[in-house]
Amino acid sequence: MRFAASYVRDWLDERFGWEELLYPLRHKTVPLHRLSYWYFLGGITLFLFIVQVCTGILLLLYYRPSANEAFESVKYITTQVQFGWLIRSVHSWSANLMVFTAFAHMFSVLFLRAYRKPRELTWVSGVVLLFLALGFGFSGYLLPWNTLAFFATKVGTDMVGQMPVIGHYLMVFLRGGEDVSGATLTRFFGFHVALLPGIATMMVALHLALVQRQGISVPPAVEAEWKANPAARRDMPFFPNFFLREMIAWYVALGVLGALAALAPWELGAKADAFAPAPAGIKPEWYFLFMFQTLKLIPAKLWFIDGELVGLAAFGGAGLLWTLLPFFDREGARFGRKWIVGAGIFALAYMSVMTVYAYWAK
Ligand code: HEM
Repeated sequence: MRFAASYVRDWLDERFGWEELLYPLRHKTVPLHRLSYWYFLGGITLFLFIVQVCTGILLLLYYRPSANEAFESVKYITTQVQFGWLIRSVHSWSANLMVFTAFAHMFSVLFLRAYRKPRELTWVSGVVLLFLALGFGFSGYLLPWNTLAFFATKVGTDMVGQMPVIGHYLMVFLRGGEDVSGATLTRFFGFHVALLPGIATMMVALHLALVQRQGISVPPAVEAEWKANPAARRDMPFFPNFFLREMIAWYVALGVLGALAALAPWELGAKADAFAPAPAGIKPEWYFLFMFQTLKLIPAKLWFIDGELVGLAAFGGAGLLWTLLPFFDREGARFGRKWIVGAGIFALAYMSVMTVYAYWAK
């Protein structure tokens, strides 16, 4: 076995200079300190993304993207195809876990202040990845063509339609017409399996290339300790030490994912009927609830402006500021640090409270 492995290595080395390619990996180190565990969240998000690609390809073998067949094909996957129910359940659970870990990774990066110079673009590419993950969730939710998904998509795209100037055009573009119909399903399918995966793969590659180029950051508190006492500095080799730890984290994530998918299989519900009345209390996926609830609480008219419009404009502005956050935290900036950590705590608290509130509200 050992002989075979070294033969393959030598063979590759003669043809591609394999050893030279692996050189940076062999000499790469990762800082080791009491907060190191937080740095596994990016890797776990990456693992869940890979699970999405693999299970998504398997689902594609049976799924049919038309209003007449989508629901039936998903029903066929869950009831007839060997382990089809498990693959669909893993895909749905992993989508939700991935959005959760991407949020957790983002907030940990924020509080450990890992976005600082020279990692501004790593942050920006990360925010784009988070938006893409939300896009995957929104487009994928409609694909089984069940009642809940149909009406949630109607509500979601209605909100897009409220945006000033481009709102109506964007809504028609998303729906493939004035209403949610079979054309919307075909379009969402295209976004979900071609457009978004293409952009996301390029973004993940860019994000990882930046992380690889810059190395993992050290939180300011640990940096200060190591500056005061250089002997306290600890690093571990990336390969095999950090790599094997990362594999353990992925293995734990796989365990959690497998248990959730097997013990709480994802429901299918009833087939969508465009002519039926909307069921009461229709809500979007949990990661959109904080925005949904905010828009519901804003009065219909704020002075003479439409309330929902003000809410959407506020979210748009906040999203833009959030994307550009690292650029406000410059060395020596007067308000930089405190303002940013405060904004992070506020955003986390606001999103959590509003999500719980929306969950319980009628
Ligand atoms: C699909 C989504 C994402 C994937 C697959 C991903 C993956 C990763 C991985 C594997 C790392 C290296 C390990 C680590 O530091 O955790 C990393 C680092 C980083 N990520 Fe992400 N990430 C994603 C989303 C985000 C988001 C939403 C943000 C922030 C807005 C972000 C910002 C960063 C930054 C600044 C680093 C550098 C950390 C450092 O050097 O200490 N990422 N990401």
